[in-house]
Amino acid sequence: MNIVVVNGSPRAIGRTGVLAKQLVDVFNFSLVDLALGELPLYNGEAEQKELDVVKSIRNTLIQADGIVLCTPEYNNAMSGALKNLIELFGSEPFKKKPIALLAVAGGGKGGINALNNARTVVRGVYGNAIPKHLVLDPVDFIENDISVKEDAFTKVTEVIDELKEYVQKEILYKEFLESKSF
Ligand SMILES: Cc1cc2nc3c(=O)[nH]c(=O)nc-3n(C[C@H](O)[C@H](O)[C@H](O)COP(=O)(O)O)c2cc1C
Repeated sequence: MNIVVVNGSPRAIGRTGVLAKQLVDVFNFSLVDLALGELPLYNGEAEQKELDVVKSIRNTLIQADGIVLCTPEYNNAMSGALKNLIELFGSEPFKKKPIALLAVAGGGKGGINALNNARTVVRGVYGNAIPKHLVLDPVDFIENDISVKEDAFTKVTEVIDELKEYVQKEILYKEFLESKSF
């Protein structure tokens, strides 16, 4: 099962990146890290699609059986960096694919805005955002934001378990279709 995690924070030092990297370390997932600032701002020009970095990240997402989108809540929405990734790649990497949504917020009862916004956007590229989702606040991180606290990570794991369940169903369904070879 190939699951790719996207760190949707553009900040080199950000809690969303801490969460994304912990997921990669614990579950052995692959990482697309928007904090590296490698992706251009979508401008609709065909040449963008030919850039090596665009091709490589697009391919990584296309190959994924499931995707975890980790987004910071910025100004009551998902990050512009993550929205830009979706604008660059369109529906191909997301279509009919199970997608888990995790938000990291500032602790003022935010986060649900980013989740619902991301859910609407994912629907726009025909992704299957799974029902379980989660907001992490600063209190869910160990001091100095080194890692996610154990109890909060247990809740993150429950979201990941649900994602794996949907991914497994999708894999079995594809195998079934192939075995039929209409
Ligand atoms: C530009 C900007 C806008 C933000 N807007 C919100 C917001 O609307 N609601 C909220 O709960 N937190 C907000 N925050 C706080 C972030 O959600 C918080 O820093 C969190 O750790 C996720 O961002 P990070 O991964 O970049 O650290 C904002 C932070 C920045 C930098």
